[in-house]
Amino acid sequence: MPIVRVGFIGLGQRGPSHLNAISKIEGTEIKALCDLRPASVEKAKKVIDGTSHNPTLYSGGPDEWKKLCDRKDIDLVYIATPWHLHVPMAVYAMNQGKHVTIEVPAAVSMQECWQLVETSERTRKHCMMLENCCYDFFELLTLNMSRQGYFGELIHTEGAYIHNLIDLNFNDKGYQNMWRLRENATRKGSLYPTHGLGPVCQALNINRGDKMDYLVSVSSNDFQMGARAKELAAKNDLYKEFANKDFRGNMNTTTIRTTKGKTIMIQHDVTSPRPYSRIHLLSGTKGTALKYPVPSISNSHEGWVKEAEFKALEEKYTPNIVKKVGELAKKVGGHGGMDFLMNWRLIDCLRNGLPLD
Ligand SMILES: NC(=O)c1ccc[n+]([C@@H]2O[C@H](COP(=O)([O-])OP(=O)(O)OC[C@H]3O[C@@H](n4cnc5c(N)ncnc54)[C@H](O)[C@@H]3O)[C@@H](O)[C@H]2O)c1
Repeated sequence: MPIVRVGFIGLGQRGPSHLNAISKIEGTEIKALCDLRPASVEKAKKVIDGTSHNPTLYSGGPDEWKKLCDRKDIDLVYIATPWHLHVPMAVYAMNQGKHVTIEVPAAVSMQECWQLVETSERTRKHCMMLENCCYDFFELLTLNMSRQGYFGELIHTEGAYIHNLIDLNFNDKGYQNMWRLRENATRKGSLYPTHGLGPVCQALNINRGDKMDYLVSVSSNDFQMGARAKELAAKNDLYKEFANKDFRGNMNTTTIRTTKGKTIMIQHDVTSPRPYSRIHLLSGTKGTALKYPVPSISNSHEGWVKEAEFKALEEKYTPNIVKKVGELAKKVGGHGGMDFLMNWRLIDCLRNGLPLD
């Protein structure tokens, strides 16, 4: 399709940044914006004021988004709402003949994952999860190196989402209706695995030659969220409903084995006062890459390669997408540019009839 006509649902903290990126990509037309809260739609609209885009605005009711999906002049529905709404919205949109992209995690249960697969296959509409970390510069570099054999055969990989969100989760002005705190109060395990999983699964060719076989998942106790909830509830009635919740354990570690005998370790911790990390470790028969705390590459047990060799490897293995739009991506921004690279690739695939990543 020469022009991709887009409708956005969910314009809280995340949606407007995607709106900005999409508005700057050639071959797009933003047709509609929807959020439950009228102020969020109005604020988001300002992001594209002065551009050629002139979307219809939908808000004020929990089902307004259906009107956006029912329109005949939209090709792609872009979903950045709370997790429990992703699948109902995506399934409805595909049933209305729209391609969909969904923020991470796309689904919250196995049943929901199958709903997405089955609906996409039946309607023959694309359904892509917006795993932006697959498009970060070091992840793209090391994916290319992995594909060119630099690391030999990959044996073991690691990823994580270690990001201290405790203040934001407990802030009533943060996530709408504190939906993310509710998720942590009512579900267990690794709630947000895809930032770590996405890039290592690409390098391991998961579902493109290998697949996950089984996993073991272990969580610590909760030492932080329950205590914070009780402390806040004593001062503010708003937090009373959280005071006696059985919160998810703070650190979850999941180990996965693939059918080809590779292993993946994924961690999830959104409460500890630790520096941010997605780990991103690729460990193979000939070399290793590790992103955090400092992007590093090694091809022996002597240590990481020095700066000059690192630069030479970057030069040799930087993939074409980064050469083409990397600078523009850094300028537009969004997590340092990876969000723009993802959105650019999404639109490029749709315009050129390619399967989405
Ligand atoms: N990939 C990333 O780096 C990244 C970063 C931040 C957030 N996210 C994801 O983006 C999504 C949104 O997160 P957020 O931080 O923007 O949360 P948020 O609470 O700030 O925004 C969610 C928005 O959805 C709206 N909404 C809720 N119910 C609705 C309905 N029925 N109809 C229309 N709109 C509705 C809310 O009013 C709110 O504006 C989540 O899936 C989150 O995991 C991803």
